[in-house]
Formats: sequence, C-alpha cells, structure tokens
Amino acid sequence: MTFLIWIFLPLQQTQLPWQPNGHWQTSSTIPNILEKAQEEIDQVVGKARLVKQSDLPNLPYLQAIIKENFRLHPPIPMLARKSIADCQIGNYTIPEGSLLFVNIWSIGRDPKVWSNPMKFNPERFLKPNESDGPGINIDVKGFNYQLLPFGTGRRGCPGINLAMQELPTTLEAMIQCFNWKVVNPEGVEMKGNDLVDMSERPGLTAPRAHDLVCEV
Ligand code: HEM
Repeated sequence: MTFLIWIFLPLQQTQLPWQPNGHWQTSSTIPNILEKAQEEIDQVVGKARLVKQSDLPNLPYLQAIIKENFRLHPPIPMLARKSIADCQIGNYTIPEGSLLFVNIWSIGRDPKVWSNPMKFNPERFLKPNESDGPGINIDVKGFNYQLLPFGTGRRGCPGINLAMQELPTTLEAMIQCFNWKVVNPEGVEMKGNDLVDMSERPGLTAPRAHDLVCEV
C-alpha cells in the first residue's frame, strides 16, 4: 500500500526548535551525500540493529553533515543582545540600551571565513587543515564564532546537549531505515546535485519556502 505522509509539517509555533531543522538536515542530505552517510552507518552499525546514541562519536561524516547544515541553514539565523552599558566593538561605540543582532546566517556564507561557501560540502569539517574553512576542529558549542547555531555565552541555547543527541540520532535512523530519492512531480526519480529546492522564507526561524513532501 502506498500512502503519503507529510513527515515535515509546516512550521508551527508549538514545534520544538530542532524540528524545523529536520527539514534542512534531510533535504541537504539528498542525494549523493546520502550514499556516503549510508555507507558510514553500514560500516559502523551494520544492518542487524538500529543506530543508537552511543554510535554518534563513531559517525564523523554524519556529524559533518549536521555542521554543514547548521552553517548554511541555521534554524535561528539571528542572535539578539541588548547592551547594558556603553561599550566598544571594533571601531563602533555601542550606546547603553542598544539592540544588537548577530547575523549567523550571513557569517555561515561569508567567503572570508569559508571557501566556496555556497557549496554544501560536509568534507570541509573532516579536514585537519584550514584550506576549506576552519576544518575538523570546529564544533557547535559556542566557542567557534564562525559557527554559532546554538548561540554563545550565558544566553546560549541551554538545549544544546539534548538537541545534539536527538537530532543526529533521528537523522541517522531516517538514513538507515529509508532510501530517500528525489522525484519530479510525475514521480520519476531525478539524479544529480542541487535538485531539492533549498530556498528559505523569512522569519525568526528559517523555515523552508516549500515544504518537503515524502512518500513512503
Ligand atoms: C537544533 C536545535 C536547536 C537550535 C539550533 C537552537 C538554537 C538556539 C539559539 C541560536 C538560541 C539563542 C542563543 C543565543 O542568543 O546566544 C537558543 C536559545 C534557547 N534555546 Fe535553543 N536551540 C535548539 C534546541 C533547543 C532545545 C531542545 C531546547 C530545550 C529543550 C532549547 C531551549 C532554548 C532556550 C530556553 C533558549 C533561550 C535561552 C536564553 O535566552 O537564555 N533549544 N536556541
């Protein structure tokens, strides 16, 4: 029996913060990067059991996919702060009471920080050197200012540990249990890169402009 499920419902206010990111994580993984991720899971986990949270440290490619998604599609694209006193940032004097917005979406696409920034390239997070951006040493915990999907400092996201357990495990299970394909409106499989429309619509979070529809 074929049935249609809308795995990823349109963003609703009641959704938890990691849910909108599921859109991006899944669609950026289609199609050829998906094969590499499946190979990694097959090697580390095999086909006899479901992936577990304890497998995560042994799945560097999957972790790199997640970081690359956070770089290009941070679920919360702007951090906000209010200055409680006059301060100096670079050449700018910020008066007390100013609202400051840190555009992490823009930092993730900045060619001064990332080489070939518009290319979805998880391998940049597996390289030990700096040739393709900050490389393997970068994480999402708020200490590397090039990649701040969970913010930073005292107002940084307190849900980071939960999110970074649940999100990779969910993504792994989706990759392990299903063969995802991109199809055209007639249902014919399409091969190649950049086939999934990754455009975003504006908002406090960065939801997809067009929902991802999955048929099982
Ligand atoms: C992929 C998942 C998630 C992402 C990308 C994310 C991202 C963020 C970001 C960027 C901020 C603002 C941080 C800052 O201004 O420096 C934030 C704040 C916050 N997040 Fe998350 N978050 C996620 C999951 C969660 C989860 C699972 C929870 C709770 C269970 C959570 C609870 C909060 C709370 C309460 C704040 C406000 C903290 C404050 O203002 O002091 N988040 N999150």
